[in-house]
Amino acid sequence: MARVFSGVQPTGEAHIGNYLGAFRHWRPDPEHMYCIVDLHAITVEHDPEALERDTRFMAGLLVALGLHEGSILFAQSDVPAHVEMMWLLTSVATVGELERMTQFKAKARALGRRAGIPAGLLMYPVLMAADILLYRTDEVPVGEDQKQHVELARDLAERFNRRYGETFVLPKPAISPVAARIKSLSDPTRKMSKSDADPDSKILVTDPPDVIRRKVMAAVTDSGREVYPSPEKPGITNLLEIMSGFTGRPVEALVAEYRDGGYGRFKRAVAEAVVEGLRPLQAELARVLADPGAIERILAEGARRASERAEPVLRLARERMGFPAVRRLAAGALP
Ligand code: TYM
Repeated sequence: MARVFSGVQPTGEAHIGNYLGAFRHWRPDPEHMYCIVDLHAITVEHDPEALERDTRFMAGLLVALGLHEGSILFAQSDVPAHVEMMWLLTSVATVGELERMTQFKAKARALGRRAGIPAGLLMYPVLMAADILLYRTDEVPVGEDQKQHVELARDLAERFNRRYGETFVLPKPAISPVAARIKSLSDPTRKMSKSDADPDSKILVTDPPDVIRRKVMAAVTDSGREVYPSPEKPGITNLLEIMSGFTGRPVEALVAEYRDGGYGRFKRAVAEAVVEGLRPLQAELARVLADPGAIERILAEGARRASERAEPVLRLARERMGFPAVRRLAAGALP
């Protein structure tokens, strides 16, 4: 059985890129762990009150997807082993490779001009590596944009094993063949992003049907009227991926049906596919969010179980590096 780990930041609300690229591939399974990575959310300036609320919301969304039944669902900051493991891993990471990460370059460029680059932004992928390596993860289901970070986690694991002795399992990214990189509706050359200030660039999983219809109809498309995927048609290509993601129909089947009907007809069909695709999740989410106490209990239980799994791996890494485990940690077998 492959061990699976994935995570989502609780910044802003989840959009259909998160859903299609990641969430819908996550499964309730005892070997799968899903984490609300709230410590990652402070790598850019944040609002402390919003963080707690957003963490509970994101947990509610994963509960609404049914992931708590079977998998371990928890908040990163509830398991301090993540932070300690991150520090151990900094010994095998280099500033050069962290500076070369695409996401760091993009965010640093945006922030640097205004307020300086927070050191946490550079260390972000080391914390992510700690998340993954702590649980002896085999597979990390993520969207295309996180592939580079998972590969870095693998490099760090390999380097650590070579330098200090066999400790970590080498993880690999699991990327969806369809909809792994959903683009912005306002600029289909960029990815759909939580941090995009333009609300019309993204469809939130909580958007009501009329908002979804309006956003899809207003999505930037290309000149021409034929519906088919092509590098010259990034807007239409993106909508085809979205519709394929929500209906499960291959892009070729959609092209056969919509090619000659004009953009308007196609966009109306895309909007309905998104509305219908999100409807069951939205209904379940409303139910789950009505009971915040239940979400708290799920997170508390998840943190307890995640800690049990993390501690022996952390202890082994500490021992390999020359920190005597007996001073601080109780004995226990590897999972
Ligand atoms: P985050 O919170 O930005 O996104 C959560 C998941 O959604 C995917 N995703 C997309 N997929 C397709 N199209 C898009 N436009 C799109 N935007 C986002 C992401 O690839 C991700 O799978 N660094 C991670 C969180 C993280 C993590 C981890 C993930 C922290 N530790 C350990 C896996 C394992 C992030 O910021 O995801």
